Amino acid sequence: MSSTPNLWGTAAAVGLASGLIGYFVGVGATLPITRGLEKGPQANDEESDYETDSEAGDTDALQNVKAEGDEPCKLVLVVRSDLNMTKGKIAAQCGHATLACYKTLIRSNPALIKHWERTGQAKIALKCESEEDLQLLQASAQSLGVCARSIQDAGRTQVDPGTTTVLGIGPAPVRVINQVTGHLRLL
Ligand SMILES: *[C@@H]1O[C@H](CO)[C@@H](O)[C@H](O)[C@H]1NC(C)=O
Repeated sequence: MSSTPNLWGTAAAVGLASGLIGYFVGVGATLPITRGLEKGPQANDEESDYETDSEAGDTDALQNVKAEGDEPCKLVLVVRSDLNMTKGKIAAQCGHATLACYKTLIRSNPALIKHWERTGQAKIALKCESEEDLQLLQASAQSLGVCARSIQDAGRTQVDPGTTTVLGIGPAPVRVINQVTGHLRLL
């Protein structure tokens, strides 16, 4: 019976304790800095972004387009440039559109979603100049069996309630989407 086990036990306890102290010092040092960076007018609720989820007209269309082999697919986000939205607003609206397309297609065409995920989940941001253009693009996509979801902003900031801000098209094979949005410019 030597004292070696006790020594090892002590060493282990000291090691664990210093590890924990290091951990808490790390957490303590990190949290206030992170919080500090979040301070400012952008972080409050009034500036948060909301959408009104309207699926009307979107779910009726057949989203039955197929991707073959390893052919490239993409999701296109068409942003209305005439609204003069801030970068942050555009980012949030594009997030809404991506999620809306994903949620729609995961139900109606899961094979296409899996294909898109496997081939890199390409997303392209394009711009158009008016609500009418956005509606025409949506109709054009749906006529080809491509998912097309428009986002109506709840209008708490920057734009009027119900304003259509972004149209998500796809994911779908590049060759099909380009028939709809091939003439549009990058955002
Ligand atoms: C956006 O900016 C343009 C150019 O400054 C201006 O003519 C237009 O009225 C603005 N649109 C809105 C919705 O504020």
